[in-house]
Amino acid sequence: SQSDTGLPLDMIIFGGMGDLAMRKLLPALYMAHLHGNLPPGTRIISTGRQEFGRDAYLAFVEEHSRSFISGGNFTEEAWRSFLQLLEFVRVDVQQDGLAALARVSRPGAERVFYLATAPSLFTTICGKLAEAGLVDANARVVLEKPLGRDLASAVEINEAVGKHFAESQIYRIDHYLGKETVQNLMVLRFGNSILEPLWRAPNISSVQITVAEDVGVGSRAGFYDSAGAMRDMVQNHLLQLLCIVAMEPPASLAPDAVRDEKLKVLRSLRRFSLAGIARDTVRGQYVRGVSGNQEVAGYLEERNVPADSSTETFVALRTYVDTWRWSKVPFYLRTGKRMQRRSSKIVVEFANPPFPLFPESPGGVANRLVIELQPEEAIKLQVMAKQPGSGMRMQQVALNLDLQSAFPQRRAEAYERLLIDVVRGRLTHFMRRDELEAAWEWVEPIINGWSTLAEKPYPYAAGTSGPSESFALLARDGFSWAE
Ligand code: BG6
Repeated sequence: SQSDTGLPLDMIIFGGMGDLAMRKLLPALYMAHLHGNLPPGTRIISTGRQEFGRDAYLAFVEEHSRSFISGGNFTEEAWRSFLQLLEFVRVDVQQDGLAALARVSRPGAERVFYLATAPSLFTTICGKLAEAGLVDANARVVLEKPLGRDLASAVEINEAVGKHFAESQIYRIDHYLGKETVQNLMVLRFGNSILEPLWRAPNISSVQITVAEDVGVGSRAGFYDSAGAMRDMVQNHLLQLLCIVAMEPPASLAPDAVRDEKLKVLRSLRRFSLAGIARDTVRGQYVRGVSGNQEVAGYLEERNVPADSSTETFVALRTYVDTWRWSKVPFYLRTGKRMQRRSSKIVVEFANPPFPLFPESPGGVANRLVIELQPEEAIKLQVMAKQPGSGMRMQQVALNLDLQSAFPQRRAEAYERLLIDVVRGRLTHFMRRDELEAAWEWVEPIINGWSTLAEKPYPYAAGTSGPSESFALLARDGFSWAE
């Protein structure tokens, strides 16, 4: 009844009553428990400020978390046995020491601390964990995003956490790295030999990465309005996707082998000048529109959003990875809330054949590799084929890899997969300190440039595909977003 190190596991969640714990972490731990992926004897110790005893906490979980377990996976019996693992410790980390937690966590247990609180508390929590004697060589700490709001604050958090935990004990989570489809991208690139020789300039003419959401800001305006789409999505999720598309083959899957290659990509991203920001980035903000057949509010009308907010809910930009492999290949990134539909994909566009042998054909892009990440996983390779009939007219058709039927088994959610990685001590799918800081080094000047330029974001109606300026950004170079 032991984990990998032979010690019992105490999973300790700070922010144990928060949104993330209720919607993602506890459901993911339930799934891990259901499938036998938690070491026997695991305990989950939630902490929060509420004057709660264990029973009141269990009732809270019952009310706020249970419904986030997807239908087919819920059984009353597994849920009951899952609740048995839970403990609750009341603590106000700003006021109290962590002696109460030290009394509950088993001596000699392997401890995972999941910091699902505001990042402004990370420093305090880590200091107090150390003070209470809870940090030993087996301890691990999981840090949720947002890790800072600029380079300086990210460095500050990293420094503070690094005083008490070695880098090998720190798991900086980016849940996109836990998605099955994103992990599969590594296999697609490096488990096959037919793509890699083509995977470079000038064979590839452009790369598009889109993460579109149909939801609005919801109840998160308090956080979101001071962040915006650039900090919330581009700095982490989109840049991580870009890294996996652009990185050189790592020498192994060892955490540092992979993270070294991703770091090189981040450091090779072309820096923007102020003129470049004005020319190559587009900010948008949604206004009232129709989403899923319902009229929905504009961003400025959402709860807790200041009426004059100029926070962006949409970003599109063009950048370059300045390396031999990617010389002159534009990378177009785009993300937004309240867009037409939830759809995330990577589109790799290949150069057209150098000579037009079939003149009566419509033209357009001959070959695209489309990797659909969400909501459905699919990989499509667009090729030209002959239209039946006399003459030699050709047309685009898709070779379609149907992963759902190739692998009918259950797909774990990102958080479940990443939590199991933490439990087993696997760091490959987590961000290293220098990676995170390199991402901020690139992002921060863009955000600063926007405030220097002091332009309002372009309005786009909710339920549409963003401001027209984002289409113009590609049209200028002779490309278009692959819808
Ligand atoms: C989070 C952002 O990191 O990712 C949210 O803070 C966003 O604003 C979410 O909605 C999107 O995640 P997913 O897995 O639904 O694509």
